[in-house]
Amino acid sequence: MRMYDIIKKKRDGFELTKAEIEFFAFGAADGNIPDYQLSAMLMAIYFKGLTKQETADLTVAMAASGDMVDLSALGTVTADKHSTGGVGDKTTLIVAPIVAACGIKVAKMSGRGLGHTGGTVDKLESIPGYKTTLSKDEFFAAAASSGMSVIGQSGNLAPADKKLYAIRDVTATVESIPLIASSIMSKKIAAGAECIVLDVKVGSGAFMKTKEQAEMLAREMIDIGTAAGRKTAAVISNMDIPLGKNVGNSLEVIEAVETLHGNGPADLKELCVELAANMLTLASKGSLDNCRGLALQALESGAAFETLKACVAAHGGNTDYIDNPELFDSAKYTLEIKADCDGYITAMDSERIGNAACMLGAGRKTKEDSIDPAAGLEILAKTGSKVCKGDILAKLYTNDEKLFDAAANEYKAAITLSDTPVEVMPIILGSMR
Ligand code: URA
Repeated sequence: MRMYDIIKKKRDGFELTKAEIEFFAFGAADGNIPDYQLSAMLMAIYFKGLTKQETADLTVAMAASGDMVDLSALGTVTADKHSTGGVGDKTTLIVAPIVAACGIKVAKMSGRGLGHTGGTVDKLESIPGYKTTLSKDEFFAAAASSGMSVIGQSGNLAPADKKLYAIRDVTATVESIPLIASSIMSKKIAAGAECIVLDVKVGSGAFMKTKEQAEMLAREMIDIGTAAGRKTAAVISNMDIPLGKNVGNSLEVIEAVETLHGNGPADLKELCVELAANMLTLASKGSLDNCRGLALQALESGAAFETLKACVAAHGGNTDYIDNPELFDSAKYTLEIKADCDGYITAMDSERIGNAACMLGAGRKTKEDSIDPAAGLEILAKTGSKVCKGDILAKLYTNDEKLFDAAANEYKAAITLSDTPVEVMPIILGSMR
């Protein structure tokens, strides 16, 4: 088999066989196919697309190109969730404890933040002592004892995707639904959970800018998961407005703890309950309605909070910070962003708000950058709010005062103030099986 012929076949719009897809994916992982041929192939896929069968074959091949985690030793049903990326998205820190408190193990790998979106691993690492790298035995022991474990992605998880994603990033081939779907699902399938819930974000802070695009991506991912023998569902959620109120690593852990105590923002609580309920219903805990009740009970009884604490302890983290979030170091400097006229907030550009948090030190521009766990921002007025001149819209936090100017300008540019109010879209825009 020759890569040249496979590229030509796809370029001319023909369907590839499973063997041809495997040749491409395994060749990407083991370095046998040069980057220029991988790039040409990705561009051919970008323009000609992939059939459902090709997408499923590519996903399974990319998953099989590295370690396949077997969670069966945990002895119970396992569930995982994945967000397509957003601003202020700390849902894993709330959803995983809720689901684990209901008896379904969550042993998952999460990513770091890159660009304007945050990553769960960075948030967890803001808890002093929390280890996001564990041996396989430690990972299983943490999940067995506390019901959940969240670690960073193993170096050898779906290496074909790692290689292809790096090339897509520099060849303008990221925005392809079959490539995004196979990329995400290859890692979810390799990570081993039987039940997978996808939080597909739509709006200014998301990859998918329209609900139609989000539904197409969700459908593709659900079909891939189902074909691979995993129970898969999706929730379509609104990322036109950042989720909750805090953006930044320790700030988001603090907000997650508040939510586990019943004091979190309504949008965050609603989305977490919905994601948890979807995971529980896939795990055969009853109807979706029933599972919403179970999720709420785990939250309101404090069981989910205790589960997060047990997980932090199992990872070597200092649980005093979970009991008393005021122990987290605060940033040295704070700047208030104030409304410069009366009006209604009619739009927020979530991507720019994510960028502002990054500029303060909460995120990285390149993988090598270090982050400031205390940096970020607190949103005090969101889309739909009526504000008066001088009202505080947000507070920015950083340990480097020089970063304020650019971040404040970015935040202000993200906010649209108008004379007439707007109708605010709900947080949950749909769900799919
Ligand atoms: N996240 C991924 O893991 N892959 C993509 O292609 C896009 C987002």
